[in-house]
Amino acid sequence: QRPAPSAADLLAWYDRHARRLPWRVGPAERRAGIVADPYRVWLSEIMLQQTTVAAVKDYFETFTRRWPTVAALAAAPDEDVMKAWAGLGYYARARNLKRCAETVAFSLDGRFPSDEAGLLALPGIGAYTAAAVAAIAFGRPAAVVDGNVERVVTRIAAIATPLPAAKAAVRAFVETLVPGDRPGEFAEAMMDLGATICTPKRPACGLCPWNGSCAAREAGTQEAFPVKAAK
Ligand code: ADE
Repeated sequence: QRPAPSAADLLAWYDRHARRLPWRVGPAERRAGIVADPYRVWLSEIMLQQTTVAAVKDYFETFTRRWPTVAALAAAPDEDVMKAWAGLGYYARARNLKRCAETVAFSLDGRFPSDEAGLLALPGIGAYTAAAVAAIAFGRPAAVVDGNVERVVTRIAAIATPLPAAKAAVRAFVETLVPGDRPGEFAEAMMDLGATICTPKRPACGLCPWNGSCAAREAGTQEAFPVKAAK
């Protein structure tokens, strides 16, 4: 009988192998008492929708240098923000980004809501982004499910239902795993596991902290998951 995957094992792996990304609070900063800035977490998650980490890095640095706070972004001319966004694509994201900054700065006293429901009500924030910001910026035990997480979970639990129908089962499984302590790092760890170990092709199962808990690995069927609905 395989043991259930444990958040503690994943977090121990993350402590050693976390990707250092400009929007993350690193271990040294964390030890120094630095906490996540909701503005930076939100901005990075909006940029990362439909865009790769590699492409986002420079834009994130440019935006946060030019507009270090949500108030600064809200006060900027729309045109400047749209120009700075050029190259990232999906321009509706940039328009919603600006509207969201204005709502937070002018109607919410500059403070992002700290729970998923409050975040979901803002322009450009869907279920994924609300959960990611709630977990990473506010330490809420939210289930953060992106494509990487879907791959990890459908393999661990050998979920044979095709996506997107499997989404509910994936979410329910993640909800059983999310720890009360360090839920934001747990979410980042799941993403990193999917991006660096539990890859679509030839996953590096030998290096996976959950390899003893993975149904697909036990059966040798890793690459069969996630199952996708026929087009
Ligand atoms: N993709 C979306 N959000 C991310 C994050 N916080 N870290 C790495 N990749 C991501």
